[in-house]
Amino acid sequence: MSEFILERIFEKVDTLPPFPKTAQRALELLREEEVNYKELEEVIKTDPAIAVNFLKLVNSAAFSLPQKVDSLLKAFMLLGTEQIKLILLAAVASKYFSKDLTGYGVSAKDIWVHSIVCGIIAEELAQLIKLPVEKRESLYMAALLHDLGKIILDLYTTLEAKKFYELMEKNPEDTFMQIEWLAVGVDHGMVGGFLLKKWEFPKEIYFSIRAHHDSDLMIQGKIPAMVALANILANMLGFIGGLDAFNYSIPSNLLEIIGIKAEELEKLLPKIYKRALLVEKFLV
Ligand SMILES: [Fe+2]
Ligand SMILES: [Fe+2]
Repeated sequence: MSEFILERIFEKVDTLPPFPKTAQRALELLREEEVNYKELEEVIKTDPAIAVNFLKLVNSAAFSLPQKVDSLLKAFMLLGTEQIKLILLAAVASKYFSKDLTGYGVSAKDIWVHSIVCGIIAEELAQLIKLPVEKRESLYMAALLHDLGKIILDLYTTLEAKKFYELMEKNPEDTFMQIEWLAVGVDHGMVGGFLLKKWEFPKEIYFSIRAHHDSDLMIQGKIPAMVALANILANMLGFIGGLDAFNYSIPSNLLEIIGIKAEELEKLLPKIYKRALLVEKFLV
């Protein structure tokens, strides 16, 4: 891959729509000690796509509301602040995952479901280890947007698809990240991390995205480790995010960094799987 193509890949970052102002403002409101839900509703309503997807997700049963809701305000009353953030960010992700990623062999719906399932796993892991609430927003954002780099790289992976499959066949032991480097000279974690850094999000977020396929980087902190684990589990459970669903296993030190035992994770899996199925079912 020539330097010229790499330059083109990073230039393409500028063509992606910026992180929506609506979501930015909504997150600001959600960070206040006393959240003004009426104002939050007004803000979210200014972006109909986010508002519609928010309600769709809330009513998907994966968030176990006691009743179906038809207004954002009613939904807010039944959810906690952190859950509102998670659902809001999942609704934002749909704006980016609106096209099939041909080069990665995944449909728009499947990559969206994969991202939401990662968000849900992150939520379950955060509850399990009692991650401080102020850390959860970064975790959810990184988990939901971890594959954003694929949107930018898709054009190149489509062009190099034949090379990808040949490389995977020739190097069955290689991770997807290694194959991506061989085929296009960069990996989607790096491109996604670059994008979130450009959007001026905190380091914890863009580093976690950068690190999600890199076994050395993913163990540099709890948040990157949780994002990487969420991605691995989503793929293992069959909610795949593309060609990178192959060759997955949980690195031995990943659970240790997060602070969970293998038995605890095993116990959590049926619940995660059930919630993931509900998301998939309701987002058709
Ligand atoms: Fe990925
Ligand atoms: Fe992924």
